[in-house]
Amino acid sequence: MDSQVMPREQLGVCAEGNLHSVYLMFNANESVESDMRPCVANVAQYIFELADQYSDSAFNGFVAIGANYWDTLYPDARPSQLKPFPAMNRDNRDAPAIEYDLFVQVRCDRFDILHLVANEVCQMFEGLVELVDEERGFRFLDSRDLTGFVDGTENPKGRSRQEVALIGDEDSPFKGGSYIHVQKFAHNLSKWNRLPVKKQEDIVGRTKSDNIEYASADKPLTSHIKRVNLKDSEGKSMEILRQSMPYGSVKEQGLMFISTCRNSVHFEKMLESMVHGDNEGNHDHLLHFTQALTGSSFFAPSLDFMISVNG
Ligand code: HEM
Repeated sequence: MDSQVMPREQLGVCAEGNLHSVYLMFNANESVESDMRPCVANVAQYIFELADQYSDSAFNGFVAIGANYWDTLYPDARPSQLKPFPAMNRDNRDAPAIEYDLFVQVRCDRFDILHLVANEVCQMFEGLVELVDEERGFRFLDSRDLTGFVDGTENPKGRSRQEVALIGDEDSPFKGGSYIHVQKFAHNLSKWNRLPVKKQEDIVGRTKSDNIEYASADKPLTSHIKRVNLKDSEGKSMEILRQSMPYGSVKEQGLMFISTCRNSVHFEKMLESMVHGDNEGNHDHLLHFTQALTGSSFFAPSLDFMISVNG
């Protein structure tokens, strides 16, 4: 491929927020790779084309390949930073790894379309995979997490979404691809809702109803935004693009946390800072109110990568 041409990215990686989402986690059957490669490319192409067909409902999505399945599916080349989910644990703060072979995310402002597409995708994969987990996400109020705090405010905006989330020339065979980390968090909302609002705000580092960031000096070292606002050795902000949405039902609900990034380091450093904290042990107190049930690492290649490897 001409290195000057940007391969077509999968449109869900950098998409703006939607009203609804469906998350499908699959494991692959044994020894189906030669059928799986064209099937993965077809599913990705199908999702890509639906974005045009349903552009008035902002349809988008992507297919991502699990870190532990990549070499089986594409043995010839591996994205340079693709590795299993960085599981970690400290006291009762747990970030476990639960890996899957394939992850399909589809999002849209019409839920009926998502339902149709999710069924169609499963049919396309029939005989090749087992559907291991499925969740449906939704916009809650004015883009709030179920804790009641607006989520996504400090996400990269406009073209810097691509800049943050998509690989460029640093790993040219994988240009236009993205490292994806997913954690399904189940919230303990009855515990959270017993906290006075000021205590909740101290834990997030922003005000609740009007979503104003605390002044730097007022941000507790244990607040979420203090813990995840990190700089690299050159003083540059470490950024990720968050595509998280609330999910669940009355029985179990929380946040499908989804990070897309052109490297796998930023997410890992943030998670370390939340779970292990700084040298004084200041960890993220949000973790007292939510529990990560899963942790999975994927790579979403460009659409052109999947088509060309298949061809
Ligand atoms: C910011 C919620 C997990 C990274 C925020 C904000 C909220 C929030 C309410 C402030 C508004 C905003 O800028 O979006 C949550 C909840 C989580 C969770 C409820 C889990 C239950 C994580 C994880 C990471 C992360 C696992 C990364 C490992 C970030 C980043 C910001 C942020 C980078 C922006 C910080 C800034 O620049 O101000 N999150 N988050 N979050 N979160 Fe989370």
